[in-house]
This record gives sequence, C-alpha cells and structure tokens, in this order.
Amino acid sequence: MASDYAFEGWMGHDKESAKGKLVWQQFEPKPWEETDVDIQITHCGICATDLHTLRSGHGATPYPICVGHEIVGKVVRVGSAVTKGLKIGDRVGVGAMQQSCQQPDCEECTSSNEQYCTKCVNTYGSKYPNGGMSQGGYAKYHRCNAQCAFKIPEGLPSEEAAPIMCGGITMYGPLRNNGCGPGMKVGIVGVGGLGHYGILFAKAMGADRVVGISRKNDKRSDVLKMGADEYIATSEDKKEMLQLAVDKKVKAWVQTRPMKDANQAIIDMDAGKARFRYTLVNEPDSKL
Ligand SMILES: NC(=O)c1ccc[n+]([C@@H]2O[C@H](COP(=O)([O-])OP(=O)(O)OC[C@H]3O[C@@H](n4cnc5c(N)ncnc54)[C@H](OP(=O)(O)O)[C@@H]3O)[C@@H](O)[C@H]2O)c1
Ligand SMILES: [Zn+2]
Ligand SMILES: [Zn+2]
Repeated sequence: MASDYAFEGWMGHDKESAKGKLVWQQFEPKPWEETDVDIQITHCGICATDLHTLRSGHGATPYPICVGHEIVGKVVRVGSAVTKGLKIGDRVGVGAMQQSCQQPDCEECTSSNEQYCTKCVNTYGSKYPNGGMSQGGYAKYHRCNAQCAFKIPEGLPSEEAAPIMCGGITMYGPLRNNGCGPGMKVGIVGVGGLGHYGILFAKAMGADRVVGISRKNDKRSDVLKMGADEYIATSEDKKEMLQLAVDKKVKAWVQTRPMKDANQAIIDMDAGKARFRYTLVNEPDSKL
C-alpha cells in the first residue's frame, strides 16, 4: 500500500534555524519497512534538545532536519510485520528513540537498557539501517519502527501525553531506577520542562519530601503548586545572605591588606596566617 499523504514539516537548514528560521517543506521519510507505522501527528512537544540539535549543539547536525521527539498522533498505516497489536486509528506516542538493535548478544538490548544500545536510532537526525534518515515531529506525519510507538491510555490529553514521551520518561526513569517512593527524599535541580516532571513524578511515587532547586525565586510558588515541599532559589542565596549579614550584624573577621602587597598576602594566606580572611584594598594614592 502506498501512502496518499505527503510528509512535510518544519525543517532546519543550518545553525541559524534555531533563531526562528525553520522552513515548512516536504521531506523524504525513511524507506518503508513492514515493521513500521505511519502516524498522523496531532501534537509534538518542544524539548530543549530540539534547540540544541538545531544549533548543532550535540555535535554536527545532519541538515536539513525536522526536530521534535515528543510526538502524539493517530496511526494511519501499519506494516504487515508489526506484532504489537497496533491498528489504524490508535492514538500513540513516540519519544526520543526509534529503535535499537535487539540482538541477543547486545548487553543493553537484553537488559532493558535499549536506550544505551550503540546501534540506537534516534527520532531525528539518525540513519536507519535501511539508509533512511529519521525525521521528527514538527510535521504532519511521522514514520517509525512500531517498537517505539506506544498506545496512549484514555484520560491523558494529547498535549500532556506528548511531552511525557521525552521529558516525562527522562525524569521518571532515574526516579524509578533509584527506588523513589516512601522513605525517600528527592531534590530536583533545574526546574524547567524536565525538572517539573521530576517534582510531579517524585510526589506521585510517594517520596516523603521533594525539594525543587532552581536559580530564581520567581518559580517558587509554581514549584510549590506542583507539590514540592520546599523550594531553593540558588541565585537568590547571595542576596538573602547579604541582607542577613546586615540585619543580624554578622561581623566577619577580616584583615585588610594593601593591593600593592598582594604577593606577600598570598604567601601569608598560604602559610595559614589569615585571621580569618584577607581582603585586598586598592588605596587611592598607592603606586602600583
Ligand atoms: N534523555 C535525556 O538525556 C534528555 C531528555 C530531554 C532533555 N535533555 C536535556 O536536559 C536539559 C533540560 O531540558 P528541558 O527541556 O527541561 O529544558 P528547559 O525547559 O529549558 O529547562 C532547563 C532549566 O534548567 C535551569 N537552568 C539552570 N542553569 C541554566 C542555564 N545556565 N541556562 C538555562 N537554563 C538553566 C533553568 O531553570 P532556572 O532558570 O530556574 O535555573 C531551566 O528552566 C537540556 O539540556 C536537554 O537537552 C536530556
Ligand atoms: Zn527531549
Ligand atoms: Zn542493541
């Protein structure tokens, strides 16, 4: 059966494409294999990796490229060798990975660590064994090995299911592998797209205490709304500390040394003579 639909999407042609210069155009999907499915895309999440890839930030990107690996859509074609019960009309999701080698002598594929298989094909920018190039989900259709298409349970809206396919699993995987659950305290550093899943899943898995850690204070109320028990704004620490030093009269034990004597000061510092901190001072009339 030939397809009566065209594969078209937003293509990046060079590093500049990440600056809003994607071009909508037709592209060649990988040559069809009977282990494949075609998906009519309804939703595709935007992952920071898409931006890194468009900028060639993960090594040289094979342009032209259609990025997007948080894909949800409807199955419109199923290969005759697809064995996992997918049928036309099913709502499925595809994440960052298309297929692994599945060989009996592959340590990763035989230990449920397919994502580390050295012959892994990524959802975009990878060569399939049959020579085709994988293209992602900022598009109308996606062709992939059925191995990587997962039915989405009812009750999960497609716009929420899409980012779970990469962002969600990236956080859920390590939490699960490290036994996240009752009795655990979890800290999530960098609350962005990924980090917010970290907080949501750690809570859903029953961790005793979940702490969000990110740079700015303006995320505090959102992170607490997600269910975190505590929030630490790393870039605000300094401001808080400076104010505390004033308010509570934290009087540091500082010895001043003239800037011109920096050489002697570092010798003394190295000898452990500071009681307890040296501060170099530029004196206005000193001749340096
Ligand atoms: N399987 C995987 O390995 C996998 C999967 C998906 C994504 N990734 C990678 O994971 C990273 C995060 O992806 P994402 O989609 O969650 O990105 P995102 O939504 O942009 O979130 C990144 C967060 O990191 C924090 N951050 C800390 N230092 C930063 C800095 N110097 N510049 C920018 N942000 C900084 C920011 O929060 P604050 O401003 O609050 O600090 C930001 O919200 C990306 O590098 C992506 O490529 C890996
Ligand atoms: Zn991703
Ligand atoms: Zn393998």
